[in-house]
Amino acid sequence: MQHLKHCQVLAQVFFIRSQSSRLSKSVIPSLSVWDGHLSCRWRSTGGHGRQKYFNDRLPKFRFALAGLLAGTGAVLAYKRHQDKVQWAATSAQLRVTQTSDLPVYTLEEVTKHCSLDSGVWVTYKGAVYDITEFVAIHPGGDKILLAAGGALEPYWALYAVHQQDHVLEILSEYKIGVLDTESYKKQESANPLDPYSAEPTRHPALQINSLKPFNAEPPASILSDNYITPSVIFFKRNHLPVPRVDPEAYRLEIEGLPGGVVSLSLSELKSRFPKHTITATLQCAGNRRSEMNKVKQVKGLNWGIAAISNATWSGARLRDVLLSYGFGAEVAAKAKHVQFEGLDKDVTGTAYGASIPLNNAVSEEGDVLLAYEMNGEDLPPDHGYPVRVVVPGVVGARNVKWLGKIVVSDEESKSHWQQNDYKGFSPGTDWDTVDFKSAPAIQELPIQSAITHPAEGTSVDCSDREVTVKGYAWSGGGREVVRVDVSVDGGKTWHVAKLRTSDQEQHPAPPPPPGRAWAWKLWEIDVPIPYRAQELEIVCKAVDSSYNMQPDTVAPIWNLRGVLSNAWHRVKVKVSEGFKDQK
Ligand code: MTE
Repeated sequence: MQHLKHCQVLAQVFFIRSQSSRLSKSVIPSLSVWDGHLSCRWRSTGGHGRQKYFNDRLPKFRFALAGLLAGTGAVLAYKRHQDKVQWAATSAQLRVTQTSDLPVYTLEEVTKHCSLDSGVWVTYKGAVYDITEFVAIHPGGDKILLAAGGALEPYWALYAVHQQDHVLEILSEYKIGVLDTESYKKQESANPLDPYSAEPTRHPALQINSLKPFNAEPPASILSDNYITPSVIFFKRNHLPVPRVDPEAYRLEIEGLPGGVVSLSLSELKSRFPKHTITATLQCAGNRRSEMNKVKQVKGLNWGIAAISNATWSGARLRDVLLSYGFGAEVAAKAKHVQFEGLDKDVTGTAYGASIPLNNAVSEEGDVLLAYEMNGEDLPPDHGYPVRVVVPGVVGARNVKWLGKIVVSDEESKSHWQQNDYKGFSPGTDWDTVDFKSAPAIQELPIQSAITHPAEGTSVDCSDREVTVKGYAWSGGGREVVRVDVSVDGGKTWHVAKLRTSDQEQHPAPPPPPGRAWAWKLWEIDVPIPYRAQELEIVCKAVDSSYNMQPDTVAPIWNLRGVLSNAWHRVKVKVSEGFKDQK
């Protein structure tokens, strides 16, 4: 399998290189990285005639490329390209073994090759590579040019997706020499720190989906043990290294208000505005993506059912802050959005960003917070210290952490994560046809529920002839969960679960005001085990105050990014032999 994957990547690279040299230069394959997964799309920069040349050949390319990228098609593609792959592998091997015959360069010589005009040379672990040709097909676009004339290590450290054998193999194709010993030593000692070296310590119970950047969820089995999720096991979703922010030096800038740019310190934010506390659930758009992957491969981190958690959040209301710095009818007449920018930045200095509609940001009932506390303490570094936005009822992606800037604007955020990600598409849309501009950015999330106990594949303890089923349910936009139905026979018969709104059963939380149900409900039920059942298919589905219900299966809501996965959750368990023989 590993071998196949390896060949697949080599074939991809070889295929792209050989086709792109035959195509006119106007047709450039554009690859991008989605949560560490490579995606390849074609873009054309040329005129009509070139476009026609490209279009005539497109179906063939699409077929071959899709085959290469998709798991099943890989076998076919592998056969078709076997000879070429063999060739590429052999030549890569040759280059490695012939290292001693390659020219020796000084760092000064490498530095001169720092542009497409002079040629793009880079170094990696003492070897020199001429990657001029590779720049056009680099998965991260031309960001690779930042390393031109110098070392790749600092940039690869930021994007850990590079630390894989097949990437090194691709690089080896471009090897042209080695650094002289003195230059190598000099470079080694100057290497900047790993941008992830100052990451916070994390709880060992977290199940890690990606280490750099850090993405993890708690085990489903402990998720519903607490109504308020302890911060240490609250799911963590980072796109970049966690920035370490000095609270004394921290400044929050606000643009787009009549008085010009506002700059607020942390203590001013805390002292000038009333502290407001809400309990709100955050859910990542990719929660339960792994179930979509079972229908057909999607791109993104393989989240289970626990990219969702519930906490109390305290801070200043965004509405109060904007009003106090001049927000009023005049601004509202022009502006439509409020943009947020994080202090976490990529190698080009681009910050994480997102936006929400202005109405939501300034609504009295919206409860949007500039939060500085989570569960009664300072925000932990992973969750946005010192200040994050909490937009209750809205997808996690708009809850910008390490908040550095707010812009009141007539436009949505231009951020990649607002424009080209976190959007939903039809199951019929694929990577060849998708047009991110055609879909609105996800804001309010749909109704959701999942089973946290029992776990898939376990056996139920049936001595009391009942199975205890537990889980969570939540809906976006402040819609309250009004009912959760549970079945143990795959959906033929249903039972209504008991809902919980606090950790103490005797002291349920007071019902939320209409349209402001920001927190999840935990639920539980003991369901009789059907006589002589050998296996149970446990299913849950929730209903919210607008009578929205979850779809029964995944296929009709499948989408290429695997977002908004909210079909009935199904868990299969065995029934122990002992019980089946009793009457
Ligand atoms: N804010 C910044 N600055 N950087 C990020 O990577 N990730 C977003 C959002 N805010 C992110 C961010 C996403 S996709 C989600 S789901 C939530 O933060 C996750 O919040 P959490 O890590 O506190 O659970």
